[in-house]
Amino acid sequence: NLPAHVKIVEVGPRDGLQNEKEIVPTSTKVQLIKMLVSSGLTVVEATSFVSPKWVPQLADAKDVMDAIRNIQGARFPVLTPNLKGFEAAVSAGANEVAIFASASESFSKSNINCSIEDSLARFRDVVSAAREISLPVRGYVSCVVGCPVEGIVPPSKVAYVAKQLFDMGCSEISLGDTIGVGTPGTVIPMLENVMNVVPIDNLAVHFHDTYGQALSNILTSLQMGIRTVDSSVSGLGGCPYAKGASGNVATEDVVYMLNGLGIETNVDLEKLLLAGDFICKHLRRPPSSKTAVALSSK
Ligand code: HMG
Ligand code: MG
Repeated sequence: NLPAHVKIVEVGPRDGLQNEKEIVPTSTKVQLIKMLVSSGLTVVEATSFVSPKWVPQLADAKDVMDAIRNIQGARFPVLTPNLKGFEAAVSAGANEVAIFASASESFSKSNINCSIEDSLARFRDVVSAAREISLPVRGYVSCVVGCPVEGIVPPSKVAYVAKQLFDMGCSEISLGDTIGVGTPGTVIPMLENVMNVVPIDNLAVHFHDTYGQALSNILTSLQMGIRTVDSSVSGLGGCPYAKGASGNVATEDVVYMLNGLGIETNVDLEKLLLAGDFICKHLRRPPSSKTAVALSSK
């Protein structure tokens, strides 16, 4: 009982680039976004309106938004950690935002410098401001199976934070295995707990591939009824505040698997590979999706 269609949320320009030390020129980011959209991706997380001291790579958020304003055919959500970020995002033309909470107290502190409860209070302000202007808000929960400091994160804690985000008005809750430690063994109980309190249609999964478990975790999630999957072109990514986190699962590999399962994505794999090639050339590294490696050695 797999879904007929899966929505991919491409997070490469945001999650993929946020951890890159060398500043990527705005024009390169914009070209990447254009290529991703032309491959058929309909949701491309474009950037973050966070403190430039915390994430210097995305300090050009406003310029990126200016440059993509007229691109048709996709939505461009952006991360906003507080009202200041939300207001900047809206001024820059954002029409969808994402807030990001954590299921682990330590990670909340190191990522957004406040406790989980304080972050939820901040996010309530963001969501109510967004609702006033009818802007959809996505809510992330980080560390849904493991935390770099605290280790195992209890599924009940994840369900609690997910429900808080849903109740305050988030239309989609993305469950993030920030450090990529999950296996189906931990992902299944986590999802079961969350599905008890948030409707499955409002859930998405977001796997990092540190231990090579992301595709197994995605397949498991699809079998449990999830229909929205986050991924990053060429598997770029990692959170600067999550030690040991490697990249997100590569969008190319997700598309390859979904194609194999006969699940529609509307993404053109060839064009997607070109986008991966483009950004990897700029980062001076070989394309790292398994699919790109396989096809380039043919
Ligand atoms: P803080 O230092 O506690 O903030 O940071 P503050 O309110 O005390 O303000 C300090 C300074 O920051 C002030 O400026 C503010 O104006 C400024 P100053 O007076 O010193 O010149 N400031 C801002 N500037 C720009 N945009 C803003 C903003 N807010 C305050 N929005 C804060 C708190 C939340 C701002 C900071 O911790 C931050 O920006 N964190 C973001 C970290 C981040 O982006 N992490 C990566 C994304 S999460 C992730 O990757 C996980 C995910 O992929 C899912 C998964 O994998 O699980 C989503
Ligand atoms: Mg992430």
